[in-house]
Amino acid sequence: MKKRAPPALPRDAESIHRLAARSMFDLFSSVSEGMMLVDRAGRVVWINEGYKRFLPALGFSRAEDFVGRPVGEVVPNTLMHHVLETGKPILIDLLTNKAGTFVVSRIPLRDASGEVIGAIGMVLFDHPETTLQPLIAKFARMQQDLDEARRELAAQRRSKYTFASFIGTSPAALEVKRQARRAAQTDATVLLLGETGTGKELLAHAIHAASARAERPFVGVNLAAVPETLLEAEFFGVAPGAYTGADRKGRDGKFKLADRGTLFLDEAGDMPLALQAKLLRALQDQEVEPLGSNKVVKVDVRVIAATSRDLKAMVAGGRFREDLYYRLNVLPVRLPPLRDRLSDLEALAENLLESIAARTGMPQRELTPSALAALAAHPWPGNIRELRNALEQAAMLTDRPRLEAEDFAQVLPAPAARSEPRKTGPLRPLPQLIEELERTSIQSALAATGGNKVSAARLLGISRATLYEKLSTRK
Ligand SMILES: Nc1ncnc2c1ncn2[C@@H]1O[C@H](COP(=O)(O)OP(=O)(O)OP(=O)(O)O)[C@@H](O)[C@H]1O
Ligand SMILES: [Mg+2]
Repeated sequence: MKKRAPPALPRDAESIHRLAARSMFDLFSSVSEGMMLVDRAGRVVWINEGYKRFLPALGFSRAEDFVGRPVGEVVPNTLMHHVLETGKPILIDLLTNKAGTFVVSRIPLRDASGEVIGAIGMVLFDHPETTLQPLIAKFARMQQDLDEARRELAAQRRSKYTFASFIGTSPAALEVKRQARRAAQTDATVLLLGETGTGKELLAHAIHAASARAERPFVGVNLAAVPETLLEAEFFGVAPGAYTGADRKGRDGKFKLADRGTLFLDEAGDMPLALQAKLLRALQDQEVEPLGSNKVVKVDVRVIAATSRDLKAMVAGGRFREDLYYRLNVLPVRLPPLRDRLSDLEALAENLLESIAARTGMPQRELTPSALAALAAHPWPGNIRELRNALEQAAMLTDRPRLEAEDFAQVLPAPAARSEPRKTGPLRPLPQLIEELERTSIQSALAATGGNKVSAARLLGISRATLYEKLSTRK
């Protein structure tokens, strides 16, 4: 079958080009809201019928007064002269002036030699707020999401806690806050000492948030939680290419991440001896050498260390370097155990119940005087973390708005039952009794620390590895 050429379509390129240009011009002239042409000097030389309706808003009643004038004088905020200067089109733009807001397009006009001889301006839409509503709504939604993500990020970067989050007005609590506030005003190393769950991490955040470094990162490393073999890379980073696999690209260490901010050494007493020497050097020189690199990197970090161990005894026993101990022990702050500040119990419980309610979405519970008395009689080896845990469990067990002493009976092991030897039952083989005692002790330690194995191991006086071992062989 023979194909016939479409009728009337010219076959030479020049004619096609001319036809296309003409068609596009006509199309834009009819679908756009208005069109204008300016010459090389930026004078308005022509406007189409559509454009005329914008004239009153621009302050002109007759087209003759508008045409012939420099475009910059008659159309405020126009960028036509910019197109003339650069020879580059502005295909889509928003123009706002006294006549309103418009979606506009500006295209340079060139002569046969390619020289810019003028420009064409088109108003594609007026009232974009209505005609472009779907697009603008989508854009606004994206903007909203972006703002929210930015807010969240900023909140995450900010310290989690301030001094206001450290609840307590007992003399012991006030003294701790006073020391911590003073520490926040200096750049000196702080050593937070205290039993598990006394608020060492909370206070470290608060000191950072009140310090001159508040706008910079707070970077924590838990020395008991990171496997020994990874600690060095964690602190000092890894140079690109030093390893194959996941770390091939290299990785910044915590020192680098905390630059000009605060480095929190949590569970500092659990630091392996080999690392202690390296850490001491990094702290003294304020410089680190990433693994696999031979370049040192300068850093500026303020250190806050925390431990529930007796560092002095560890120094005496040769398990903690004396020089590092003195390096960390510049401003020691000792956090009191909960049993030594029972006058704060009510305020603490109220605060914790409020946060539990906020997190679970359930109504906030109150404590009856009898419940408070029961709580005051407990020795709190897991301190405030244990208190939080006990309140949470008791709240789960009942729907009553006010928690009674009996609601805590199941949650808190009676203090007497802990120390008294078992009197019930016939004598049984010793290994069985030991195993039983171990199981119940581990259970109470985990309950006291809210399931925190590192702290539970500490309470039991065994290593974390031993605890894991016992947990895994128990069933
Ligand atoms: N003074 C306080 N006011 C309110 N909440 C507190 C206070 N102290 C501690 N908490 C809360 O108790 C819990 C344990 O605190 P944190 O983690 O700071 O203890 P820690 O001393 O670091 O314990 P560990 O040695 O086991 O790591 C957290 O939920 C914390 O918010
Ligand atoms: Mg801690």
